[in-house]
Amino acid sequence: MDERHRTADLSRRQLLGVGAIGALAPAAGCSRGGLSRRESEEAASFYPSRMIGRVADLKVDVPVAFVYPDPGSPAVLLRLGHPVLRGAGPGRDIVAFSTLCPHKGYPLGFCAADRSLVCPGHFSRFDCELGGQQIWGHATQNLAQIKLAVDDEGAISAVSIDELIYGRLHNVL
Ligand code: FES
Repeated sequence: MDERHRTADLSRRQLLGVGAIGALAPAAGCSRGGLSRRESEEAASFYPSRMIGRVADLKVDVPVAFVYPDPGSPAVLLRLGHPVLRGAGPGRDIVAFSTLCPHKGYPLGFCAADRSLVCPGHFSRFDCELGGQQIWGHATQNLAQIKLAVDDEGAISAVSIDELIYGRLHNVL
């Protein structure tokens, strides 16, 4: 290959390389899911902050039902008795999840034996100690976890959700 062809070949490869990188790179200001950081922050700001319980009232492995962010979205508050992933409160052991199975929306039940939420529909299981990670079954995503805030008096508030609730295009309707 003479010098002229080598230069033309190199330029073509450089151009293709830049084009490929350009095609894969997200547009400026975009993040995963196609929302810009500002759009994500705006979406988060739409979540209501709602008190759902008190640390002193929770017993280990005794689930407390509540709804969030609206009455059409059942959820469960759990105290697991030891620090867990994304756990809130002084012991980092308080978590909350949607109880609608992400597969087809069956209502989940808590299994204290392995700290999982279990679906009676097609038997998916979600690990409450690992942020709702799916550990078995037909579902194709982890369970929506509700982010909690705990104040100095032990009041627990639901403040946002990390995944889409089953059947919704937007968590806040
Ligand atoms: Fe829960 Fe199918 S609805 S696994």
